[in-house]
Amino acid sequence: MGFLTEEQVREARIGSWSGGRTVVLLETDSTNIQCRRLAEEGSPEGTLVVAERQTAGKGRRGRSWQSPAGTGVWMSLLLRPGCRPETVPMLTLVAALAVERGIREATGLASQIKWPNDLVLNRKKICGILLETRVTGGKTDFVVAGIGINANIPEFPEELREKATSLYLESGEKADRAALIGRVTAAFEEYYRIFLESGDLTPLLSEYNERLVSLGGAVRVLDPKGEYGGTCLGINAGGELLVKGEDGQVTAVVSGEVSVRGVYGYV
Ligand code: BTN
Repeated sequence: MGFLTEEQVREARIGSWSGGRTVVLLETDSTNIQCRRLAEEGSPEGTLVVAERQTAGKGRRGRSWQSPAGTGVWMSLLLRPGCRPETVPMLTLVAALAVERGIREATGLASQIKWPNDLVLNRKKICGILLETRVTGGKTDFVVAGIGINANIPEFPEELREKATSLYLESGEKADRAALIGRVTAAFEEYYRIFLESGDLTPLLSEYNERLVSLGGAVRVLDPKGEYGGTCLGINAGGELLVKGEDGQVTAVVSGEVSVRGVYGYV
């Protein structure tokens, strides 16, 4: 299929942001870094940076993100939500919904969400999302929504094989990456507007919970203050995960502070 061109990505973009700035790079450090740079220069909301290869791809919790050339979708979208900084973490859940829908529309594959914002297919990770925010004077200046989709990656290093997969490995078919980018950004725009209008996740709650891989299942909450097990009841309007402990008590788990695993491993 070859490398993505700026023209292909621009043509595939739909929605009101589609006329905006689209940058496609053959190689860069991290699309999040480049998108932030454009944000600081005053680029408008909807600006999109895509790279074929990242040399310093960033994952959550300071990890690195493997970003091989020509087979993934490594992209960052610039948002200027103007919402209170406390509500920005909810945007990561909005992003997960958008990517799930984008993947489904572009490929027909139905993935699931691992709270708060990983996407899994057959219980292995196919997408990670990293939001980076700049707050000035107590106000949200901008948010860079970084999305990494393992689209057509043909194989993973041994140590990742248990946990990670690609759309190609699961379906046997190569995804059209430009179409994927177009669908994801369009879905993002739609969910983002619904979220901004409501101010929280209320209108997206049932859709999110339906896609949650662990809904109704047993999970382990890896709280630094002490691990515990429970049943996953879904998220609340603030994006916290409700877990019912063995004592019947329901705890709202806040993302970022605590991670949640299935009892049998990653999911
Ligand atoms: C995770 O750890 O799950 C989040 C991974 C996010 C990776 C994407 S790839 C595009 C964007 N640029 C980066 O440097 N990271 C994000």
